[in-house]
Amino acid sequence: MTIGDSHRFTSSTDLPDFIEKKLRQCDDEMFNPRKNKKPLVLGDRLPDAGSIMLQSNDYLNISNHPRIRKAQLDMLTAMNREPLMSAVFLHEDSALNLLQKRMALFTGFESSLLCQSGWAANVGLLQVIADSSVPVYIDFFAHMSLWDGVKIAGATPYAFRHNDPSHLERLIIERGQGIVAIDALYSTSGEIAPLKDIVEVANRHGCVLVIDESHSLGTHGKQGAGLISELGLTDQVHFITASLAKAFAGRGGVIFCPSRLAKYYPFMSSPSIFSSTLLDFEIAGFNVTLDVIIEEDERRTKLHEKSKYFREALASLGYSVASESQIVAILSGLEPDTEKLRDALEARNVFGSAFMAPATPRTRSLMRFSIHSDLTMAELDYVLNACADVRDEIGMWNWKSTRKIRSAQ
Ligand SMILES: Cc1ncc(COP(=O)(O)O)c(C=O)c1O
Repeated sequence: MTIGDSHRFTSSTDLPDFIEKKLRQCDDEMFNPRKNKKPLVLGDRLPDAGSIMLQSNDYLNISNHPRIRKAQLDMLTAMNREPLMSAVFLHEDSALNLLQKRMALFTGFESSLLCQSGWAANVGLLQVIADSSVPVYIDFFAHMSLWDGVKIAGATPYAFRHNDPSHLERLIIERGQGIVAIDALYSTSGEIAPLKDIVEVANRHGCVLVIDESHSLGTHGKQGAGLISELGLTDQVHFITASLAKAFAGRGGVIFCPSRLAKYYPFMSSPSIFSSTLLDFEIAGFNVTLDVIIEEDERRTKLHEKSKYFREALASLGYSVASESQIVAILSGLEPDTEKLRDALEARNVFGSAFMAPATPRTRSLMRFSIHSDLTMAELDYVLNACADVRDEIGMWNWKSTRKIRSAQ
């Protein structure tokens, strides 16, 4: 078959129609609907030194911790070269393996596996444990990396209603034994999953659990060991995953699992085999980060006190807030409403994270504020005053989400 002239490219910057079609769709859905022709996440104003930034997931505010920085720098200085290779080549006594042992002890699991990111942890784990014969029951709002893991495994996802253990149970009864995948703490709304009930349902039907603790490892539980540990459920959960780019303030991910799986995982998971392992200076940093997280309990205490104060005050202003944690989101709903809220807050030098499709359904966009332990009360009050100030200007009283609260009162 020959390619006709109409299909030839005039230059290598021309793209074929099958790619152009996708780009046009992104333009129509994400760029064009906005006043500034940029995605909703980007306003026109750039933050400056005086801005209040509530976008980072460094919940314990340790990304510039002197001990962690020093450990990273010392390792960079001491090393001749980095091990730029896949983890399959690492022996028992590698720095990675030693840190994996410490991480497992930290949460009370038999083993842990360090990954390049939280994304790699979820995708790699599901690829290893699921296949086309295994149903995966997944919370409708579970993180995209869990959904993509299901896809890569070739398994069928059965979505259950968000945080609804009885719907989960009905699906399991229909489809049989499989995997239940959830987030412990939802990264968009800040809600905590009904963990005890979900664990109970999963165990009753012989399902294994994959629980993503990206937003609760380090921030919740004794010494930061996470929500599953705090609730005494460690013995009843097979797999926990987490991004280390949140409270651990680095680049990495982790899977907590039984030793039986840990032995084979590096040789079965594509992200482990076909992507390079963590670098030595990152591992040196994480070793000290783990010490800091275990030792510095007061960071967690401050985080929880400030988050509670902030989310309760925000709800008392009339906003719809479902949060139970340090992730505090205004559930604005329609994207144009979130756009107005973003602009009004940025005009007052407050920067949160606007969430839109594909991170949320199109009618459930939101403005997320990530609280960290060292925010001052004056900063929190400044943001609350800004949120109070903008309500009329952005038409907040007429949002569906806020009308619903008022009619329930
Ligand atoms: C719940 C959850 N899981 C996984 C990830 C992916 O983590 P990472 O950024 O380390 O790839 C994220 C990050 O957005 C997340 O919020």
